Amino acid sequence: MALILAIESSCDETAVAITRDGELLSNIVSTQIEVHRKYGGVMPEIASRLHAENISVVLHEALEKANVKLEDIDAVAVTRGPGLIGALHVGLQAAKTIAMLYNKPLIPVHHLCGHIYANEYNEKLEFPLLAVVVSGGNSELIIMKDHLSFEVIGETRDDAIGECYDKVARVLGLPYPGGVPIDKLSKEGEHTYNLPTPLKGEHTYDLSYSGLKTNVINLVHNLEQKGEKVNVPNMCKSFQDVAVGLVIDRIKKAIEEYEVKEVVLGGGVSANSYLREEVSKLGEKTRTKIVIPPLWCTTDNGAMIAKVAERLYDRKLFAPLTISVDPNWRIEDYDKF
Ligand code: KG4
Repeated sequence: MALILAIESSCDETAVAITRDGELLSNIVSTQIEVHRKYGGVMPEIASRLHAENISVVLHEALEKANVKLEDIDAVAVTRGPGLIGALHVGLQAAKTIAMLYNKPLIPVHHLCGHIYANEYNEKLEFPLLAVVVSGGNSELIIMKDHLSFEVIGETRDDAIGECYDKVARVLGLPYPGGVPIDKLSKEGEHTYNLPTPLKGEHTYDLSYSGLKTNVINLVHNLEQKGEKVNVPNMCKSFQDVAVGLVIDRIKKAIEEYEVKEVVLGGGVSANSYLREEVSKLGEKTRTKIVIPPLWCTTDNGAMIAKVAERLYDRKLFAPLTISVDPNWRIEDYDKF
């Protein structure tokens, strides 16, 4: 256990958290959502610039709130990947600068480990477990037989589920990020549009969202060409049933095959109310514990990076200052850099 400063900048949140012996002292998140909204998605170059502008301010605020000085910390942790290359670089350079100036160990953290371990702010993980990380950039099903042991059994073959929500929202004229408005409107709609289930009939834990996105776009354009009005709540409900249904199907199969003690959700899409409902029902039916992160911890933040870093600190998994970011870092290689 130690005093950890953790930096996260993999996408569109500049975030710094400080933990002492596992206790969260500060967790400052500066989100860029408003800026990216007008483009209907994250613009990588703008994201990097905003991280560069914000990182010192966020760092300062986190230190002040925690009443901690940089010389007091035991280690500096940072998200090394996966994520946007320029965005990751800003966080890593800040972390390296602190490590070098104050002679502190540098701990590179895998972003998806962060989404999984965020749940430890609520309760301890129990193994074997199935981790389902669903976000704007990732959709993965991971079996963990112990702490920091990861076996990816399924992942998206193309787009991430959150990315699909955001693109479907854009074609329906809904604001970015699209997850929340689609989730909300689905509650007012009915499943009336026929959208094919991706990878139907295939024996796989993989996911696929590119075809589903194209199906919605084509359907909307066809209706518009015929002069018919799209019923937006019904389209949201029809889309959400298929998008979330695919994840639920994979979870159901994995519970049976791997006999897991619990299913742990993580990532921005784990805020989805339909997913939370359906996975909870599945847990009751199969007598499997379902661990759902607190809402504040579903989107990117430094607290989740600090939670992983505490374990890596105990294992002395420190990196040399020569390391670089890895936008495609695989979770199985979380200790290779
Ligand atoms: O984890 P996150 O903050 O960023 C990445 O690491 O990608 O996830 C953001 C994603 C966005 O695509 C957003 O639309 C989606 O999470 N999201 C949701 C909901 N809230 C956020 N998707 C479905 N339902 C929601 N309620």
